[in-house]
Amino acid sequence: MAILLPGGAGYIGSHTAVELLNKEKEIIIVDDFSNSKPEMIDKIKQITGKDFKFYEVNCLNKKELEKVFEENSIEAVINFAGFKAVGESVKEPLKYYNNNVSGAITLLQTMQKYGVKKFVFSSSATVYGTRQEVEYTEKMKRGETANPYGTTKSMIEKILEDLYFADNQWDIAILRYFNPVGAHESGLIGEEPQGIPNNLMPYIVRVANGTLKELSVFGNDYDTPDGTGVRDYIHVVDLAKGHVKALEKLEKEGTGIYTYNLGTGKGYSVLDMVKTFEKVTGQKVPYKIAPRRAGDLAIYYADPNKAKEELNWQTEKTLEDMCRDSWNYICK
Ligand code: WQD
Repeated sequence: MAILLPGGAGYIGSHTAVELLNKEKEIIIVDDFSNSKPEMIDKIKQITGKDFKFYEVNCLNKKELEKVFEENSIEAVINFAGFKAVGESVKEPLKYYNNNVSGAITLLQTMQKYGVKKFVFSSSATVYGTRQEVEYTEKMKRGETANPYGTTKSMIEKILEDLYFADNQWDIAILRYFNPVGAHESGLIGEEPQGIPNNLMPYIVRVANGTLKELSVFGNDYDTPDGTGVRDYIHVVDLAKGHVKALEKLEKEGTGIYTYNLGTGKGYSVLDMVKTFEKVTGQKVPYKIAPRRAGDLAIYYADPNKAKEELNWQTEKTLEDMCRDSWNYICK
């Protein structure tokens, strides 16, 4: 019985594929390479020494997706297939609602048709919306999302809750990622955003290697220790291991719907990240203070205790590891 990974050639998906293969799980990757590269497939095989099936399919293509279920015995699905650039989602909402939400619905309908009801969803802390509290716990209700990307995540969470209410044979884990950064220690897989990076770490590494001139620090007048934005950065390998633990939880429980924060529980500022990166890599990261970015919050981070108690999972890697591995990947 195989674990199906739509979007499995992407940043989080490829790292999760490695961890599943390391645990002797059988996987099948489905990806349309809209935000990933074909060579990622061989790199996952190179890292693990394991083989697996791959289909070049977009989840909106019901016929092609059904073919994957016809040809294989699938026990669970971990869905990574989704666009994730906040700025782009504001400019092209229909692209995001169609790809992320309609894609998830087509995938869930296909699962239902073939009696596959174990589903892990790649969600985001962004569903908590703008709120007074800075430490997010799963007990909180979802908030008002600030952009179409975040709204797609919130919508899919609601769809999953309604689906479970209608049929409690579903077995669902919703994983709310905080800020994924870093890369596998081999340097063979990592984050490869198309074009100018939106996120902090991919931007820093490109300033460090001279591709980009300098980092713009979006505001230093926030109510935080050094005035710059504070986030809960989580190493992508720790995040990937959280998916393996979530799958084990579903296998153990059989049915249910579970929501977990995947974060470290610690907040670091933009300047903490810059200073740590320079210390760890020996590379200078020139920066200038720029105006705040619209939609940014000052500070938020995870309360990670529910995943610790219920999944027996917690992060192990440090901010130094995240910086070292990000730099190692871009150098390779
Ligand atoms: C982090 C901090 C910026 C770039 C978003 C999504 C989240 C997830 C990750 C997709 C903030 C500052 C950034 C730069 C800067 N989605 N910054 N200069 O906005 O916390 O989260 O991306 O994977 O769901 O909401 O991440 O890395 O863009 O910003 O000063 O050039 O770095 O202001 O304080 P964010 P980010």
